[in-house]
Amino acid sequence: MNTLSVYNPVKIHFGTGLIAETGKIAKKYSDSALIVTGKSSMQKTGTLGRLLKTLQDAGINPTVYDKITPNPTIEQIDEAAGIAREKRIGLVIGLGGGSPLDSSKAIAVAAKGDIPVWNYLKTPAKEALPVITIVSTAGTGSEVNRYSVMTNPETAEKPGFGYECMYPKEAIIDPEIMLSMPPYVTATTGFDVFVHVFEAFTGKARNAFSSAYCMQAFYLLKDNLIKSYGEPDNIEARGNMALASALAGLAIDISGVGIIHAIEHPVSGNYPDIAHGAGLAALTVESMKYNLKACKRDFMLIAHHFGIKRAGKSDDEYAGALIEKTGEILAALNLNIGLKDLGVEKEKLAKIAGEAFTTMGFAVQNNPETAGEKEVLRLLEASY
Ligand code: NZQ
Ligand code: MN
Repeated sequence: MNTLSVYNPVKIHFGTGLIAETGKIAKKYSDSALIVTGKSSMQKTGTLGRLLKTLQDAGINPTVYDKITPNPTIEQIDEAAGIAREKRIGLVIGLGGGSPLDSSKAIAVAAKGDIPVWNYLKTPAKEALPVITIVSTAGTGSEVNRYSVMTNPETAEKPGFGYECMYPKEAIIDPEIMLSMPPYVTATTGFDVFVHVFEAFTGKARNAFSSAYCMQAFYLLKDNLIKSYGEPDNIEARGNMALASALAGLAIDISGVGIIHAIEHPVSGNYPDIAHGAGLAALTVESMKYNLKACKRDFMLIAHHFGIKRAGKSDDEYAGALIEKTGEILAALNLNIGLKDLGVEKEKLAKIAGEAFTTMGFAVQNNPETAGEKEVLRLLEASY
């Protein structure tokens, strides 16, 4: 058997209303905090106000950085890191979806050093400010893993990176915060969870631990992905999706992602207005077809977890039924889309195919079926 190591030091708190406990939790780390959030959702819903109150009640001095955009840029991260350094802030709190949470981890690293955050792609970081994540989407799993994804707007590159010092100290998962997600955000982030579980479960680097997380996440997805979209106020469905997201985040922390993510990052890197989950939606069915032969047994197992009836189906038919089911899930989420619908220009496909290797090479390596640039370009064309 292969040797393996697993490590994840994040203390996870799950429960409705838990954001009110942040002050007490944060006090362990510092008397000052940089709150990293997006431009409007957390302000409009009053969530940022609630966070500021619990911090102030605990005697923590908060500074708010609220310029993080979806698909965050290195300029935003470097600017916020500069503020943290200048004000000698001792703690970073990410509040929002994957974009602010990823940024909070990158800011925590950049604030400790004196080089631009982009340089950390090549220079491993050994230390970072402590980070607390408060997640508002059930999607990326960023709340519980070490990864950060950032875009260089000059080159359109969108790589991910993650060092051991980047694990959040604590993650607060409060499903109440997720109730305000608009339908499109619920659909795209929820589908991101599906793809994480799918890629972590089938990837070459999977092991018993990541698979265990995936199994439970599949069950939760089966009953709650479409429900949370159709019944946005259903706190139980929201909570179960939040759990699925965290389980999936733990799974990809162990065993990474595959070709769907490898291709999606350059898509939203070149088109920052495309939501990560929407890019995934356009690419998933064709990528599953591409991987079918290499992971037929896994597809059958997942089909079983999704409650697809075997009745009289051959192995090939049963594995193939998972791809049909995925198409049905996408349709139910109103995400039956191609890259063209998302505004991707056909002339850009070759550039995107190349960048899947230069910025997300490890994810291509992890894919069950081997793929070169030619195959990736073909997948992009089929997903157009
Ligand atoms: O920007 P604001 O005003 O905050 O609004 C956001 C944004 O417009 C809004 N939103 C978030 N939570 C909300 C809400 N609106 C109402 N109520 C709420 N509760 O939704 C929009 C999207 O937010 P964003 O944070 O960009 O979405 P998501 O959670 O999908 O994060 C995407 C980013 O994470 C990266 C992606 O590449 C992308 O950059 N990823 C991070 C990963 C990781 N750390 O492991 C893995 C993923 O595969 C992914 O690559
Ligand atoms: Mn993802």
